[in-house]
Amino acid sequence: MQNFTYSNPTRVVFGRDTIKRIGLEIRQQSIQKVLLLYGRASIFENGVYKAVTASLNEQGVEFIELGGIQPNPLLSKVREAISLARQHQVQGILAVGGGSVIDSAKAVALGVHYQGEVWDFFENRVRAKAALPVFTVLTLSATGSEMNQFAVITKEDEQKKWSISSPLLYPRVSIIDPLAQTSLSSQQTVNGAVDALSHIFEYYFDGLEDTDLQDEIAEGIIRTIIRHVKILVAQPSNYESRAQLAWCAAMALNGTVGIGHKGGDWASHSIEHSLSALYDIDHGRGLAVIMPAWMRYVSAVDYTKFERLAERVFNIYDIDAETKSLEAIISLRDLYLRLGAPVTLRELGIPYADLERIADNATIEAPLGTFKKLFRGDVLEILKLAY
Ligand code: NZQ
Ligand code: ZN
Repeated sequence: MQNFTYSNPTRVVFGRDTIKRIGLEIRQQSIQKVLLLYGRASIFENGVYKAVTASLNEQGVEFIELGGIQPNPLLSKVREAISLARQHQVQGILAVGGGSVIDSAKAVALGVHYQGEVWDFFENRVRAKAALPVFTVLTLSATGSEMNQFAVITKEDEQKKWSISSPLLYPRVSIIDPLAQTSLSSQQTVNGAVDALSHIFEYYFDGLEDTDLQDEIAEGIIRTIIRHVKILVAQPSNYESRAQLAWCAAMALNGTVGIGHKGGDWASHSIEHSLSALYDIDHGRGLAVIMPAWMRYVSAVDYTKFERLAERVFNIYDIDAETKSLEAIISLRDLYLRLGAPVTLRELGIPYADLERIADNATIEAPLGTFKKLFRGDVLEILKLAY
């Protein structure tokens, strides 16, 4: 296990009917005025907008609002929100939505205090020194953004979907009310489960040894996600399964599983971000295709962890290491198929002729990964396996 420091400063308020607490939570932080950010239609259809604004009004928290944040959120929208936040001199950003809205809020929170171009942070040209506090009301459990220090934004003119990481980006308070998620489509629920599983895998398969406790926790989260996402596909309103999946997704990327690791592998995420940047594909759908293909490409480097996954998650024993590893990868792919997720690039409508272009986009900053260092040629092979 590597040396580590661990701190997660996000205050989480979890459970039924907790959205009505948002006004009080903000006011208790001595904040009087926020920029309220949201996506397109969902929060108006499921009552979340009404509950949030009622709570803000009740507590006397002033707000100005900006909607229309799309999945795979855009830098242009972040810029628009930054000028609005400056113009109205807000003291905090309130994100109501899924990862796309929360990530936009984080970028806005950094950008307000920075006189240059906010994209500088994504290109690592400057280090973040200050940010407005971010509050979230989560409506889609997937990314873990509600409890972590990451944000992912697309610079559309250059087709770069890149991330930032800073301790300043942990939300100050996150409300996680699983009831708000009963309006999710089966596809969005599955996307969330696949994303959370992938976050676990990025650490589990980063090539680091001696992380036994972290691996036990990881396997527990994987088994729990699989159990409850299956229930939710059949019963979208099952509260207990919504609650379990919501907490799993937060735990998958709030630092707990990554403790003592080298920071994770993240090659599959980088490749998927290129799919989202080039074709506006849902992050979870892209991962369902890429992650099993990545596993097939790299597993021969060291079967140890793949064998462990086979035994602990898929109950596969009594065969040689190579076959056992392959069976685990096939079981994961079969699970995604049963959940209705795509498992090939062809299903995502991507032409075979585009694979070179995707490999170029994914390896602007190569090599990728830690389990096996991947260069452009490796990424191309993974894309072919995924086709
Ligand atoms: O726009 P609306 O109408 O609100 O609809 C949204 C959107 O279309 C809908 N939705 C959200 N909550 C709903 C709902 N529909 C019905 N009922 C609800 N309760 O879901 C759609 C997708 O929303 P989005 O926020 O895009 O999904 P997600 O939470 O999966 O976020 C994905 C984004 O986060 C990034 C991804 O790359 C992608 O851009 N990631 C962020 C990470 C982080 N910050 O730590 C890590 C991840 O690996 C990931 O890269
Ligand atoms: Zn992800």
